[in-house]
Amino acid sequence: MNILVINGPNLNMLGTREPEVYGYETLEELMMWLQTSPEGVNHQFKFYQSNHEGTIIDTIQDEREWYDAIIINPGALAHYSYSIRDSIASINRPTVEVHLSDIHSRESFRNKSVISDVCIKMICGQGKKGYLEALKLLQSD
Ligand code: DQA
Repeated sequence: MNILVINGPNLNMLGTREPEVYGYETLEELMMWLQTSPEGVNHQFKFYQSNHEGTIIDTIQDEREWYDAIIINPGALAHYSYSIRDSIASINRPTVEVHLSDIHSRESFRNKSVISDVCIKMICGQGKKGYLEALKLLQSD
């Protein structure tokens, strides 16, 4: 399967960003861990990170001939980006939403994701394992 993995705003800061919430590993380390996991080696990945809503949407559109599925951690965009929601809704590919932290047990503005209803599942609070769970879900889909 060809899988596009998208990480949104501020996830490029993993490793030093609020490590008590997000851990000490960098985004590169997390993505390498996913790609080289026993489940990951059977698939092709493209990894994309951006701090910009519009370029995330451009990537979802521009790569749509390539990927079979998307794993996305939209960062804070999950809580308010109807544009990313509509973009996911438009491409007809299974998409799994991942959050490292448990968004339900944090500030109230994080409780709601406007993207979840166009994803096959939302996984949160499992740290980097959430990306692997997303991959397993796509494999069995
Ligand atoms: C996050 C949760 C979001 O609320 C936050 O804005 C992030 C990271 C997570 O992975 O836990 O940037 O998506």
